[in-house]
Amino acid sequence: MIIAVDGPAASGKGTLAAGLARHYGLPHLDTGLLYRAVGLAVADHLGKSDFEVYAVAAARALDAAHLIDVDKLTSAEAGVLASHVAVINDVRLAMRQYQRDYAHQPGGAVIDGRDIGTVVCPDADVKLFIVADSKARMERRARQLEAKGQVVDRYALYHQIEQRDARDRANPHGGFYQAPDAHLLDTTLLDIEAALRAAVAIVDGVMARK
Ligand code: DC
Repeated sequence: MIIAVDGPAASGKGTLAAGLARHYGLPHLDTGLLYRAVGLAVADHLGKSDFEVYAVAAARALDAAHLIDVDKLTSAEAGVLASHVAVINDVRLAMRQYQRDYAHQPGGAVIDGRDIGTVVCPDADVKLFIVADSKARMERRARQLEAKGQVVDRYALYHQIEQRDARDRANPHGGFYQAPDAHLLDTTLLDIEAALRAAVAIVDGVMARK
């Protein structure tokens, strides 16, 4: 069973995908980490004319070993860098096969990102599109960062999330939209447990009809 989970920054898709993976005993790939690792690798080139060339090279050289330092990868800085490399089509192409192979391993997988249901795994058994309003997403991300001991400027974080959304949605190579066969789940008013229960109900419902 392949479960595709897409949604904007801090919508809760990562936590939900991890919860679904535990619930169904499936492996989980957070594809945002791939873009974050590439972004961090070329941080020094941001704003320079060679940024794209270095980003494509980093994407082609990416392997699982780059995904180990999760603290660094989940920083707000890595998120911003990720959204800059994610607009480069050759970066996306370089990473697409890795994601497809992961999803198609025996038994299947849960895989989350922006374009999983639309581009990476249009054949996924179940597709979820997770949304939540911007303020709720900012507050969740703020608490995550504070739990890691970081000092958070909520005003700046809100704008950073809005800007990142705008860049992701405007990405001509992004495939970031709700697939016609994806199920919409709005987590604005749901805590983690309630969101997971709702997601499991959707997955069970889809699989029962197969
Ligand atoms: O989900 P996240 O915040 O870790 O994603 C970081 C950035 O990577 C996000 O701004 C857009 C990009 N991304 C993407 O374009 N496609 C994906 N499948 C996953 C992430």
